[in-house]
Amino acid sequence: MVITRVPLSIRSPPLPIPVLRQNLHCSSSRNPNPNQNQTLTPLFLRPLTHSTTTTKLSSFHHWAQTLARSSFPNPDDAGVDSSHLLRELSWLLQDTTSTSSDTDTVRLRAHLDDLYSLWRQRVEERKPFQYLVGNEHWRDLVLVVREGVLIPRPETELLVDLASEVDGFREGLWADMGTGTGAIAAGIGRELGTGGSVIATDVSETAVEVARFNVKRYGLEDKVEIRQGSWFDPLQDVKGRLTGLISNPPYIPSSHISGLQAEVGRHEPRLALDGGENGMQHLVHLCEGSASALKAGGFFAFETNGDEQTEFIADLMKTKWGDFFCNIKRVPDFAGIKRFLTGYRR
Ligand SMILES: C[S@@+](CC[C@H](N)C(=O)[O-])C[C@H]1O[C@@H](n2cnc3c(N)ncnc32)[C@H](O)[C@@H]1O
Repeated sequence: MVITRVPLSIRSPPLPIPVLRQNLHCSSSRNPNPNQNQTLTPLFLRPLTHSTTTTKLSSFHHWAQTLARSSFPNPDDAGVDSSHLLRELSWLLQDTTSTSSDTDTVRLRAHLDDLYSLWRQRVEERKPFQYLVGNEHWRDLVLVVREGVLIPRPETELLVDLASEVDGFREGLWADMGTGTGAIAAGIGRELGTGGSVIATDVSETAVEVARFNVKRYGLEDKVEIRQGSWFDPLQDVKGRLTGLISNPPYIPSSHISGLQAEVGRHEPRLALDGGENGMQHLVHLCEGSASALKAGGFFAFETNGDEQTEFIADLMKTKWGDFFCNIKRVPDFAGIKRFLTGYRR
């Protein structure tokens, strides 16, 4: 899992989101640790309640560039290089500042001291950039993210396309299990017709809070319902009625987590990564449960760690559960890796 980010130049325009205003970071007083008491409002949407001088901002910029240039990728964990960090620094400044040509004052969405602190966390602690700025671009969405919830990855976007190609998609009843930020559920929710809906579930309280925020932010409350609980537990009332089950479950083998890129292994929630001894503990559970959760002809699509896991699960679906499922397919991601497993309930 590599942390990448869409450049600002091809971002969608900022969205008007006065929803959940009570969470806006409105205080003009400084937050000594900007990552504690996180609001869910991303940095670029916070009010310009702080200010500094162009000279002080230049000093910060110079210091931050020097820190970025002194950082070398660790060959052991595929860390990012300084040119990547410098790109992130310019995004951070664009997200935070608003200059006016006729004065020496720069208006800021965070205190300048907080920018120093955030940049140290990025370079020295390898905290993912998305946690610093509080959002990630995914499909045509700008999703709020915060520590404690997985940053949605580009390859996962394909799950929405796979679902949307299914006959009866627009009016169907869908489930996104292990929703995280609510990315897949929101992506599907936006494509549904009037009769369609999605139930998005997660066992993590933080994920449920963030997913609710994102769903509300895009006005999808009538299409996407968020429920907290473990896998099929919150879906008992729709058992045997689902048109489709979609999931990107935790699939990293437990012993591999300490060797992941520091941004991932040190900072993203273990609950979102750890797939047990061989990485497939949750995948196997989801496949097995799909037999009773899906209606006849219902569709499933699961993301895996890649070729080996996809092959293993595909074989299991054909042999052990062959009476329940058909049309099992291995679907490649953008890099040609067999990332997804799809099929139908007989
Ligand atoms: C790899 S993340 C995927 C998040 C999101 N769907 C995405 O693609 O960005 C896996 C998610 O599964 C959730 N999860 C882990 N164990 C779970 C369980 N027993 N029941 C439900 N969700 C679980 C995690 O909290 C996490 O949000």
